[in-house]
Amino acid sequence: MRILVTGGTGQVGRALQRLAPPGYSIVAPGSDRCDVTDFDAFIRLVADEQPDVIVHAGAMTDVDGCERDPERAFRINATGTQHVAAAAQQFGAALVYLSTNYVFDGEAAEPYHEFAERRPINVYGRSKLAGEEAVRAIAPRHYIVRTAMVYDETGRNFVNTMLRAAAERPSLTVVADQRGNPTYAGDLAAGIYRLIEQPAYGTYHLVNEGSASWYEWATEIFRLAEIETRVEPIPAAEWHRAARPPANGVLANTAAAALGITLPPWQDALARCLARRAALQPA
Ligand SMILES: NC(=O)c1ccc[n+]([C@@H]2O[C@H](COP(=O)([O-])OP(=O)(O)OC[C@H]3O[C@@H](n4cnc5c(N)ncnc54)[C@H](OP(=O)(O)O)[C@@H]3O)[C@@H](O)[C@H]2O)c1
Repeated sequence: MRILVTGGTGQVGRALQRLAPPGYSIVAPGSDRCDVTDFDAFIRLVADEQPDVIVHAGAMTDVDGCERDPERAFRINATGTQHVAAAAQQFGAALVYLSTNYVFDGEAAEPYHEFAERRPINVYGRSKLAGEEAVRAIAPRHYIVRTAMVYDETGRNFVNTMLRAAAERPSLTVVADQRGNPTYAGDLAAGIYRLIEQPAYGTYHLVNEGSASWYEWATEIFRLAEIETRVEPIPAAEWHRAARPPANGVLANTAAAALGITLPPWQDALARCLARRAALQPA
């Protein structure tokens, strides 16, 4: 199985390389060698690699940055995805497109299932939804994999931000009225590999089980890392940022679960990530 991963330097791209099953050959360049906004260059790369599957994990993921620069957000997340879908279709590769819980408005009382109405409330969500539409229109052999709150040991993510902040400040305020599913990139990558074993094309939610607010997530990070820091819950209205995330960003995995694919509880995943992070730190 030959797999081409876009966004190979990102959290999901790195996890896909680290966890590739035996017999899989993975090519996973970063945006310097694989810029999805450059259609001709991307077509040449796919022609050279002849992948069986393209996992499109590359994206502009800075949610506030997207709000400030919508043109760039849509160029990468929407038009870039259109390019990837066209190349996958032209060269007969199946396509995995990483999408997001931010395609939903967050107003629902329940977790969002795969076919809930999509109504993004920020530029990032709108640009990723446009990517979903391109994939559906162009590449019939697709898996749209929505995920949420992704983190790993080393990336630019909430876990590392909290641990850095705790080292610098005696107390922190963290938003308590926005929820999602904290999802470990390693578990997500393992779920993607299980999914693509079957030609069950469609839309999936792959997230660690359970949900948390940013505040609950931070509290669990400090408990597991045995760090004593005062964490105060605040409403999102008191945390000023360019983009508004959905209040309820919780995804329900029903479609992948029907295939027997669920990810472990988020607290278990966080404990494994923190243990691996500690092992990677220089002594
Ligand atoms: N992170 C989350 O919380 C989250 C939540 C839901 C969904 N997702 C989705 O999951 C996917 C993977 O996220 P992640 O956390 O691994 O992201 P990440 O760590 O921020 O990495 C993003 C990757 O995209 C690459 N990239 C940026 N611009 C590109 C371009 N023009 N062409 C090709 N690649 C480009 C980056 O390359 P450089 O390093 O070279 O810039 C990097 O490798 C994304 O599609 C994201 O939308 C993420």
